[in-house]
Amino acid sequence: MSKLKEEDSGNNIDKALVDGFGRVARKLRLSVTDRCNMQCIYCMPRVVDKNDEFGSNNNNNNNNAIAKRWLAKDEVLSYEEFLRVSQIMARLGIEKIRVTGGEPLLRPRVEDLIAGLSKIYGIKSISMTTNGLYLGEKADLLKKSGLQSVNISLDTFKAGRFKAMCGIDGLHKVLNSIYASENAGLNVKINTVVVRGWNDEEVVDFARFARETGHVVRFIEFMPLDGSGIWSPDLVVSKSEIISRIRNDIGDIETSGIVAVDNNDDKVNDDGSAPAKLYSFTDGKGTVGFIPSMTEPFCTQCDRVRITSDGRLLTCLFENPGYDIKNLLRNGKTDQEIANYILESIRRKPEGVVRIIRSKALKPTLNLMHTIGG
Ligand code: 5AD
Ligand code: SF4
Repeated sequence: MSKLKEEDSGNNIDKALVDGFGRVARKLRLSVTDRCNMQCIYCMPRVVDKNDEFGSNNNNNNNNAIAKRWLAKDEVLSYEEFLRVSQIMARLGIEKIRVTGGEPLLRPRVEDLIAGLSKIYGIKSISMTTNGLYLGEKADLLKKSGLQSVNISLDTFKAGRFKAMCGIDGLHKVLNSIYASENAGLNVKINTVVVRGWNDEEVVDFARFARETGHVVRFIEFMPLDGSGIWSPDLVVSKSEIISRIRNDIGDIETSGIVAVDNNDDKVNDDGSAPAKLYSFTDGKGTVGFIPSMTEPFCTQCDRVRITSDGRLLTCLFENPGYDIKNLLRNGKTDQEIANYILESIRRKPEGVVRIIRSKALKPTLNLMHTIGG
């Protein structure tokens, strides 16, 4: 906060992204595109068939069918617009930015956006969540542009299963991206969504991978944000189930309780603000993380907000449709007016998935993950 103080005198945007539950937003996710070159079962709507609402007129031409789902170019925020809103939000207290998608590396010259973000006063770290398909060739450039860390999605080590789960033959490319990112000096974490009957038998292999490579593998509980509509409670593999499988097959893991490494070198779990709960093997070799969004929702400590690719502010993953920022950006509003709107929206941030779980109103497909970023 002290760095930001210098700016106080220069503008009258106050820095108080506080919601009605007293939570303070410090992290911003930018979903720079809704497009993706994968179709993970827990995220993207599946390739359509001829009865599908998107595919009914196109004689089974799946490419057309998929294209119809994507936002038109002018519906998506430009880099200038993303930079402007990020700048406004940095002045309101945002300190970290994560670039997500869809698949962010599908957006041409995303490194230009990264470079722009890294110049924003008050932003301490920039990270990206990617499926890794194009990361190998871009890792160096991204690092040079100011990217510090990448979360790479990887759900299986089996090529056939990769194709079944993610809709493309991409295992080797993603594995290569992991090594390329490491060589480029990026901090690498692996995101693994565990879906019962699909990849849960591999959790121990992932824990071994964490031990062998030194990369933190974060196991993510499957949330009802999938476009395929397959979510059901029995597909969720809980953090505690994964822990006992790892303990049985490899050895004991325990949480230090306090130290989690978020982007690069930032220790954040001491204030509970990072959703990944880290556990290390007691022999000192390897760390795994858990994002128990369903069994231990972290809503009370949530410090993040999102801008969707079509320019909506989402104060919660489960909020829909959120707040239309694009309209303000494109209709001559001043930074102050936009800041006021953002402040007011965040004040109304809902309690979160905890409330939905409590009220048993949880239904599949509340929001589509690929439109909002993970
Ligand atoms: N549940 C949990 N995590 C998800 N992701 C995408 N869809 C879901 C879901 N339904 C995560 C993936 C990916 C990131 C973009 O979002 O791990 O890494
Ligand atoms: Fe694409 Fe990521 Fe969604 Fe998979 S999880 S379909 S890679 S956006």
